Amino acid sequence: MEHLSSLTDWNEEILLGVLQSAADFKAEPEAFARAAERKVLFMIFEKPSLRTRVSFETGIVRLGGHAINYDVNTSPLGAGKESLPDTIKVVSRYADLIVARLFKHSDLEEMIAHSGVPVINGLTDYSHPCQIMADLLTIREHRRGLKGQTLCFLGDGFNNVTHSLLHGCAMTGVNIRVGCPAGEDYEPLPSVLAEARRLAEAHGTEVVVTDDAKAAAEGADVVYTDSWMSYHIDPGELDRRVKKFMPYQVTEEIMSVTRPDSIFMNCLPAARGYEQTAEVIDGPRSVVFDQAENRLHAQNAIMLRLLEQARHG
Ligand code: CP
Ligand code: NVA
Repeated sequence: MEHLSSLTDWNEEILLGVLQSAADFKAEPEAFARAAERKVLFMIFEKPSLRTRVSFETGIVRLGGHAINYDVNTSPLGAGKESLPDTIKVVSRYADLIVARLFKHSDLEEMIAHSGVPVINGLTDYSHPCQIMADLLTIREHRRGLKGQTLCFLGDGFNNVTHSLLHGCAMTGVNIRVGCPAGEDYEPLPSVLAEARRLAEAHGTEVVVTDDAKAAAEGADVVYTDSWMSYHIDPGELDRRVKKFMPYQVTEEIMSVTRPDSIFMNCLPAARGYEQTAEVIDGPRSVVFDQAENRLHAQNAIMLRLLEQARHG
């Protein structure tokens, strides 16, 4: 049974194939109107969401299927009356696919271990693969391809989006530079870096971590940032984190050292005046709403791949 827990579940060929299907779906959605006819997607969210929740539901409807949004707070699971394995074993008897947004990646792995249907990671504390599939599609569109591009991520390196960017860039020949404060609370997990470096070797591309924001941004094709206050971070951490991350804010000055035709990305939700200035996110280089749209197309391709694999499995 194939699931999507992190992008490294796949190899480069599969990843590029799914990106191509996403582009095909985007170009001609009507051709896929019955591709998942009568299929049911079960969606379970432990954290807030706009894009993931709405794009998955819209996506499965456009493919001819149906979505069920399950509220953990009013569930036996949330009330501590039913275990995660039992919940998933029951859901697997009804639904054809599961998307889960969870606090702990280990809970997602437990879900996968007990699921009889494909499970898609809709974000955990470790990774956010669906986001990065949409981002790679967006870079492909705006930069006319992936190989040889240089992406600079500024801000929180110890972060689900950063980890999946490291995986996705390394797998597709995109150089990646992470500019973040030094220290294990802010830098990507060493195991993710090691895996990204191993994957990048096949393409001869670079994986760099530096605490120098300008050096990370120098000559980049893409500048990417994400919230300093991810859903799982205690709100009481705000002042301390703002002080720590402010040198990594994406400003016009940072954008001025990148390529003249570089693009700015943020997975959203965004906080203007924090991880980037309003000028940058609302400026001409920003492609953040194309990214958000591409969640829909990328996830439809992911769902169709997993349904197809399950049919053959
Ligand atoms: N980028 C993203 O996953 O957005 P949501 O938290 O709104 O789903
Ligand atoms: N790193 C962010 C991503 C939000 C889509 C978070 O976990 O909240």
